[in-house]
Amino acid sequence: MKADDVKKIAVIGAGDMGNGIAEVAILAGYEVAMRDIEQRFVDRGVDTIKKSLAKLVQKNKITEDASKDALARLMPLVDLEEAVKDADFIIEAVPEIMDLKKSVFKDLDELSPKHAILATNTSNMSITEIASATNREDKVVGMHFFNPAILMKLVEVIKGKNTSDETVQITYDISEKFGKVPVIVKKDSPGFIYNRVNAPTSLLISKIMDAGSPTPEEFDAAFKAVMPMTPFELADYVGLDVAYHSLKYFSEVLSPEYKPSKVLEEKVNAKELGKKTGKGFYDWSSGRPNIDTSKATKEFDITHLIALQVNEATKLLEEGVVDDPKVIDLAMANGGGAGVGPFTLAKSIGYETLVKKCEELADKFNVEVFRPTKTMKEGKVSV
Ligand code: 3HC
Repeated sequence: MKADDVKKIAVIGAGDMGNGIAEVAILAGYEVAMRDIEQRFVDRGVDTIKKSLAKLVQKNKITEDASKDALARLMPLVDLEEAVKDADFIIEAVPEIMDLKKSVFKDLDELSPKHAILATNTSNMSITEIASATNREDKVVGMHFFNPAILMKLVEVIKGKNTSDETVQITYDISEKFGKVPVIVKKDSPGFIYNRVNAPTSLLISKIMDAGSPTPEEFDAAFKAVMPMTPFELADYVGLDVAYHSLKYFSEVLSPEYKPSKVLEEKVNAKELGKKTGKGFYDWSSGRPNIDTSKATKEFDITHLIALQVNEATKLLEEGVVDDPKVIDLAMANGGGAGVGPFTLAKSIGYETLVKKCEELADKFNVEVFRPTKTMKEGKVSV
């Protein structure tokens, strides 16, 4: 099969990521079945797509006709068999629970045509393990989008242990047809590039939650001027359930230090999941929170966050997940709103300063994940 042979796409899951991916695919001209387990979830997904398309029309990014045509290509469904029986390419976007992913992939393997590629939008989890639930491991691949999928350019295309080169190539080509910036991740490793590089920041805010100080607003206020979305706000935006499952998974596969904080666990149990439920660390009932910059903490600054990113990025090089630092910078510049990668930033700040910041955080929180790597101390990575 070639990317041009892909005519029909199925997206499994109509939540934030699922409906965003479906919207990207219909706008790229594909027939798309979007499936969720209950009609109300499907309806909510369709509603979100309609609102987003209306925004694009309003901003003159697409025409009214293009919006109508795209919507006509969307097939919202609850019946899984109906959704996948004639699909050439299937993208799974269900919650980040390994057993659930495996059970979905087992069903997809049984119900979809033998030639269909089964892609997972998992944020962090092993593609190889998800593929093991199927009898077509060569056709299972990671295809990781970023929230909001309609705006964020990056797609990480992740090769599992048994994914064929043909599957990787088709997924790469389809990502380009979607208008995205795909990056191939050759080694299946937790969090791939983007989320792995940001994992220590999630750990840092988790530690701050438990310490109780600074407050989310005091912390975020320190970065408001230099980030499109600050760390606690971004966690709310992406979903505290997603943040919780990610940290839990990292604590199992990377380091026990990633164990999610008690505060985060309580929020998830109380269904305070951030934007999607109207409340997380902030109140989202009337849109993005107003963060008061006068409350900014002096305890942390942007070099702390950059230091953690650069340090984790060097681990990806040391572990052979990526062999070219430019690929890491390309991914990091396109996955969020930053527009620039960590190694480019390191060049202008200087490795010596960043190493000191990592040591400071490692000592302060007694966290070895923050400790600077050998590569970081050598300070020779250049892009
Ligand atoms: N559909 C269509 N257009 C949209 C939209 C949507 N859902 N949301 C926003 N827009 C448009 C707006 O109309 C606006 O257009 P304009 O520039 O022509 O005026 C533009 O996007 C900016 O939107 P807003 O003015 O409403 O809002 P902001 O300026 O606050 O930007 C944001 C919102 C683009 C989300 C910005 O805050 C941002 O870049 N945030 C960072 C997001 C990020 O880091 N994502 C990665 C998260 S990690 C992840 O996803 C990994 C996964 O595994 C969990």
